[in-house]
Amino acid sequence: MTQNTMSNPAGTSILLEAKNLAKHYPVAQGWLKPKAIARALDGVSFVLTPGKTLAVVGESGCGKSTLARQITMIEEPTAGELWMDGINIAHADRNTLKRVRPLVQMVFQNPYASLNPRKKVSAMLEEPLAINTLLSGPERAEKAKAMMAKVGLRPEHYSRFPHMFSGGQRQRIAIARALMLDPKVIVADEPVSALDVSIQAQVLNLLMDLQDNSGVAYLFISHNLSVVEHIADEVLVMYLGKCVEQASKEEIFSRPLHPYTRALLASTPRIDPAQRQQKMMLPGELPSPLAPPPGCAFNNRCPHANERCRQDVPALRQFEGRLAACHRLEEIS
Ligand SMILES: Nc1ncnc2c1ncn2[C@@H]1O[C@H](COP(=O)(O)OP(=O)(O)O)[C@@H](O)[C@H]1O
Ligand SMILES: [Mg+2]
Repeated sequence: MTQNTMSNPAGTSILLEAKNLAKHYPVAQGWLKPKAIARALDGVSFVLTPGKTLAVVGESGCGKSTLARQITMIEEPTAGELWMDGINIAHADRNTLKRVRPLVQMVFQNPYASLNPRKKVSAMLEEPLAINTLLSGPERAEKAKAMMAKVGLRPEHYSRFPHMFSGGQRQRIAIARALMLDPKVIVADEPVSALDVSIQAQVLNLLMDLQDNSGVAYLFISHNLSVVEHIADEVLVMYLGKCVEQASKEEIFSRPLHPYTRALLASTPRIDPAQRQQKMMLPGELPSPLAPPPGCAFNNRCPHANERCRQDVPALRQFEGRLAACHRLEEIS
């Protein structure tokens, strides 16, 4: 069984499919030295289906935002495929990209930086319609006001500038703007990480309500597993540009298998005391994607690593209803 048939039971329609997606950046090393290659994203595959949320988790620097830039077509991947509407958009021409781009919208982490301070809410919401549709001015205004109501903004907010809003309200504006063109996919890159904890749950609940009503799929990126527990259907754990484990949320949280997933979970504060595990910090740092360790990229931080782990790269494989990349699953599960 392939990864895709696992996350895509018969009859489920696929909105977007990534196959071995990779992005390598050339990095200057200094005068006359050859450029090094940073393997920021190194062969990741998944499918997104209507009304579902795939969460991508991993430490800072593991390649999550790089993945987001490929999915939203901001950058062209180095390798791999990205299928949408029967087209491989990883290497599509400009006209095709122009048509497909509105279907995938992005919500960024920092709502203070992502909203233009000189534009009123009305302009921010109506601009995508003005660029991409033939709607008249009054029709655009009507749609913008209807969307404001959906995301919990009040009618009087229509003519206000971003500085008049709190972080949570700004993120509501950003979400409203992302939804204006009825996208099929929203990529949310750490969308609540900059918000107060008390506001985070409100924004997550809003995202889930909007998904229930519209069927939009989310690629939800977070370094924080406790945020993901709220919203995800499936979880993809990334380490140094690669997927190390992918499974349903229930499997990831009740029985994480990959040593990295376990360490990540153990270092995440949990609300439910019954779920709290013995505190195990992640020792050491994420290696540089310029110089990944030989063998399993996690071997220098893994309590189970042996000689084989220091030599052979483990393949992502089916194991007990999930995908995981570890030589020692049989022994440690
Ligand atoms: N344009 C770039 N040029 C070179 N290296 C990059 C570039 N963008 C990202 N990287 C590197 O790729 C790795 C992944 O970065 P990023 O995708 O931002 O991770 P995350 O979002 O998970 O924190 C990091 O080591 C980062 O330094
Ligand atoms: Mg990031």
